[in-house]
Amino acid sequence: MNTRHLMAAAAVFLLVLAVRPATALEPGDRVDDFRLLDHEGGSRHLYYYGDAPAVVIMVQGNGCPIVRNALPGFKALRDEFAPRGVEFLLLNANLQDDRAAIAREAEAFAIDLPVLLDDTQLVGESLGLVRTGEVIVIDPATWTVAYRGAMDDRLTYEHQKPAATEHYLRDAVEDLLAGRPVALASTEPVGCLINFPERNAEHAAISYADTIAPMLVDNCVSCHRPGGIGPWAMTSYDMVRGFAPMIREVVRTRRMPPWHADPAYGHFSNDRSLSADETRTLVHWIEAGAPRGEGVDPLLSHSDVQPEWGPLGEPDLVIDIPATEVPATGVVDYQYKYVTNPLDRDVWVRASQIIPGDRAALHHVITRFGMVETEGPRQGRIRRDGPSGGLAGYVPGWVARDLPEGTGTWLPAGATIEFQMHYTTYGKATTDQSRIGIYFHDQPPAHQIETMILANPRIRIPAHAADHREQAVRTFDSDVVVYSLLPHAHYRGKASEFRAVYPDGSEEVLLSVPNYDFNWQTTYELAAPKRLPAGTKMVHTTWWDNSARNPANPDPTREVPWGQQSWDEMLFGAVSYRRVADDEQPAVAARN
Ligand code: HEC
Repeated sequence: MNTRHLMAAAAVFLLVLAVRPATALEPGDRVDDFRLLDHEGGSRHLYYYGDAPAVVIMVQGNGCPIVRNALPGFKALRDEFAPRGVEFLLLNANLQDDRAAIAREAEAFAIDLPVLLDDTQLVGESLGLVRTGEVIVIDPATWTVAYRGAMDDRLTYEHQKPAATEHYLRDAVEDLLAGRPVALASTEPVGCLINFPERNAEHAAISYADTIAPMLVDNCVSCHRPGGIGPWAMTSYDMVRGFAPMIREVVRTRRMPPWHADPAYGHFSNDRSLSADETRTLVHWIEAGAPRGEGVDPLLSHSDVQPEWGPLGEPDLVIDIPATEVPATGVVDYQYKYVTNPLDRDVWVRASQIIPGDRAALHHVITRFGMVETEGPRQGRIRRDGPSGGLAGYVPGWVARDLPEGTGTWLPAGATIEFQMHYTTYGKATTDQSRIGIYFHDQPPAHQIETMILANPRIRIPAHAADHREQAVRTFDSDVVVYSLLPHAHYRGKASEFRAVYPDGSEEVLLSVPNYDFNWQTTYELAAPKRLPAGTKMVHTTWWDNSARNPANPDPTREVPWGQQSWDEMLFGAVSYRRVADDEQPAVAARN
């Protein structure tokens, strides 16, 4: 063969690759789990539908006439199979379609199905998609492809029959529901070609030393280090390589890094999520075999144990919280511990942090302080009037930081600090001896930091409800600057939102958490503090999933009331803010 022949052969080979990707899943192949946002901001997790008899996905793309034309038939099948529990979803992996454009397409074409946004194209690549319009039937019993191809034979390019004569999708679903082998498991899909520019790229050239390891250092190593809260430490390339398939899984399903906010709303200074680009690069590198490449391993210089008090350093004051005996098994009621401020002077606190004694047992700590009742039935408890406030709490993954610039918490001499300690037993009796470290301001700060609590103790979540919603609303009575937002629910928490309703009636979502996870009690710190005018309403909404599909749900048959233990529920939001003084110039833009 001469050079021209060789090049021609190579071109044909590439063409074949482009038409039928080497990675395409065939009927019988396994579909890996994933979690994606949909076009309405909901969070969709494939393996959530594990008890459905079938999951059907149609590949959608804006502006594709075949998809638009096929959708009414797809919706009719959705309605036909709904009584038998079959799930129907759309998936958009187009480079050119963003969320707003997909929402417009959904509006224009009456799409009342969730359109999953595959913005990294990783799901589309791993399914081996080539065209929109393709339908894929997945059997959740084995998570394998039961059918892929055209929905029916009605549509071809620029032609359509009045009615289909072959109903491939319906037949395949009927076969699956009847427990029969699917008679026709694959046909040629009809639709618009999708551009996957990265699919055949040289991912083996992605540099571990220059690209991957620095990404891990920035987004993972704060927890995955010796002595950190992650279950294994990223101390070298070898560790990462060993965990590479697991990293691919936790990144595709958004379990890691733990960050649950919808990036469409707000910017947060403690955002630890990977961008779409970073996610794509990391997964591509793993799929290329996690090659080591050249260069010194940057992880080697991050394998030291973190100093006990972390980046804040030694505190000005350390208080031992009275110890708690935690049994090996069973339920431990909330423990309340009281310590009187040992200082004989008032101080302004700029930061505080709790170091857990036994991380495995300590579930969370909430602190507050004030003066104690000296008599009556509440003797020894914190008084409801008088100076009061809170210090740092504790939840896994919490990172201690200074309070926002110019703010502090006034801790008076003689105040008593209350520690609400929640423990989870873990099979071994233990004694928890936690401590709190407190850091002082040298000069009084300009502003006192305050917390608005949005709670609704009247919630009732019906048994089996998969999407139950409740709200709490409060109004700011002065101009304020908001610094952070904390949503809190328990095992059944599904999604949460903070919305500002301005005095003029306009609304703004400050935080949306479509994928609430009880394991991670994240405080979302606004990158730019937000000034709100007096009269602004804060609307805090939480949705719960009390269905059997929620893997964290301890009992879907129960109507769930408000309660402190994790098997009861809470609608509880905390907004950290300061008041704006009457004479203060608007230093922070009113709406940013
Ligand atoms: C805020 C702390 C934190 C950060 C940041 C974090 N992790 Fe984790 N990671 C954890 C904890 C805690 C667990 C254990 C979770 C569990 O088992 O419930 C975990 C579990 C994992 C696991 C599963 C281990 C297994 O085999 O079960 C992988 C893989 C992982 N993390 C990878 C990553 C990667 C990659 C990043 C960065 C992109 C990252 N993590 C960022 C805390 C963190």
